[in-house]
Amino acid sequence: MKSLVFVLAGLTCLFGQSMGLSEKGWILDDSCKTSKDPRKENLIAQMADSAFEMANLAHDELEKQLSGKQKDVDIQNALKWMFLPDNKGPKDIVLPEFDKLRSTLQNVTELSKRLPDTTSRWKNPNVVIIYCTLDRFKKRKNGDWSDKAAKLVIPDADYQACFPQTPNAKKGVAWTNVQYNHPEHASHLQLCPWWVDLIMEAKYVTFKDLPKKALLGPAEWERKMKQAGWNGVPIDTVGLFDRTFLHELTHTRYAGETFDNAYKWKPCRDLAKKDIPGIDEKSAQRNADSIAFAGLAIRLNKYRQRPLRVLEDGMFEIK
Ligand SMILES: *[C@@H]1O[C@H](CO)[C@@H](O)[C@H](O)[C@H]1NC(C)=O
Repeated sequence: MKSLVFVLAGLTCLFGQSMGLSEKGWILDDSCKTSKDPRKENLIAQMADSAFEMANLAHDELEKQLSGKQKDVDIQNALKWMFLPDNKGPKDIVLPEFDKLRSTLQNVTELSKRLPDTTSRWKNPNVVIIYCTLDRFKKRKNGDWSDKAAKLVIPDADYQACFPQTPNAKKGVAWTNVQYNHPEHASHLQLCPWWVDLIMEAKYVTFKDLPKKALLGPAEWERKMKQAGWNGVPIDTVGLFDRTFLHELTHTRYAGETFDNAYKWKPCRDLAKKDIPGIDEKSAQRNADSIAFAGLAIRLNKYRQRPLRVLEDGMFEIK
């Protein structure tokens, strides 16, 4: 028995070395795969790819504005809505002020490669592992939940966020854990099971699925969403699963461990207006939703089939 344990430990070591730290990317955990229905795996992968594409495009467009090579007033505005107060404008979209945003978008883009699942997957801080269930967690005596294999412990509140007890309780869709106690470990991106089920049933998963019609009449779109119980502005409602996924990716260790200081378009706009000096944890460039919305706004502006200009109040108009 002892020697078997040894052999296994030796194997882990070998695998540990085979995955270099230079390797960056994402790994899909088995909980996101069902042998009976490969649709699940495909949808999550499609959503991830779409989020990486959004980050890539936003990064490219930001670079163009920073270098002054291809100025675009709509892109500058999208950046202003999410990151600048009223008295600032295009002349303030410069380095080093926008360095943090640029770096986060660049690093998210660098995570876009899907890596094979290996036993050494925990031991790389530049990797994000995506989970679709919480089955790996066991409850501890003190109420916390522990994922033994990954040496990850989460508080009961995080666990319960995916399983709200009462119908009116706030339902989490996803969370990201960077394992502060283990700086050498991968980031964990948890998709809540109910949300994965919703994605499976949803007609529109990523931006590309949106019918042109849905983007045509913002007022009509907003009315429909309000009827369905949404209380956001139009851009909140077209931010689909890929936007949320991008939000989570900015939380990962490699992308710079962003914060959650404001959610949804209007609160993010208000955060930018506060013009918090420097780039500390309260500033808009360090807020996950601000970055994800900037990505979406830039993508809407560059949407080839039907470019849309995003306005300050979260409405859009056809360009
Ligand atoms: C992006 O990754 C580089 C290492 O490649 C790191 O130095 C930088 O701090 C990261 N950016 C952020 C925002 O964390």
